[in-house]
Amino acid sequence: MITIIAGTNRPDSSTLKLSKYYQRLLLNKGLEVNLFSLMDLPANFIQTDMFGKRSEAFVPMQQMVADTQKFLFVIPEYNGSFPGVLKAFIDACDFPNSFYDKKAALVGLSSGKYGNIRGIEHFTGVCNYMHMHIMPLKIHIPAIHKELDEEGNLHKADTLKFVNEQIEKFVKY
Ligand SMILES: Cc1cc2nc3c(=O)[nH]c(=O)nc-3n(C[C@H](O)[C@H](O)[C@H](O)COP(=O)(O)O)c2cc1C
Repeated sequence: MITIIAGTNRPDSSTLKLSKYYQRLLLNKGLEVNLFSLMDLPANFIQTDMFGKRSEAFVPMQQMVADTQKFLFVIPEYNGSFPGVLKAFIDACDFPNSFYDKKAALVGLSSGKYGNIRGIEHFTGVCNYMHMHIMPLKIHIPAIHKELDEEGNLHKADTLKFVNEQIEKFVKY
C-alpha cells in the first residue's frame, strides 16, 4: 500500500492541496493510494499517543502506517525546516513496525524561494536514522502560491516535468 502524508496540521494548507494533486496522479496510474493529513491527528495526541500511550482514535492511523510499504511525504517549510508536528507524529508511531526498512519519496514546498531544501535534508536525516530508503529524486517547489491553480493542479511546464519524473520513478521504486 502507498500512503501520502500531508506533513502539516495547518488548516487550508497548500501542502494538503499538493498532496491531493499527487494522489490524483497516482490514482490515474491505477494504484491504490491513501492520503493522510496531519490535520486529522487527534487534537491532543502529544498527550494521548506518545511514550507508550495509545488512544482509540490513533489506532487506525497506526494501522495505516504499519500497512504501508511506500510513503510519499509532502512537507512545507516552517522556519527553515520541516514542521514539528511531523516529527511528533513520527515519534508517536510504533517503532520499528511503522517506518523501518520502508521506502519513501519526499516533496518540499514553501512560499519563499527555497522549496524547503533544508527541511527536506533535515527530514532525510531523520528517515535515514529510521532505516528508511529515500528515493534520490526529491522535488522542491518554491513560491507554491504561484504554482497551484484554482482547481489545485500544478500548471507550470518545468514543475510538471520534474513532478511527472518523480511519479514515474516512485511507481517503480
Ligand atoms: C510556522 C510557519 C513557518 C513558516 N516558515 C517559512 C520559512 O521558513 N520559509 C518559507 O519560505 N515559508 C515559510 N512559511 C510559509 C509556508 O512555506 C507557506 O505557508 C506554504 O504555503 C507552505 O505551507 P502550508 O502547507 O502551511 O500552506 C511558514 C509558514 C508557517 C505556518
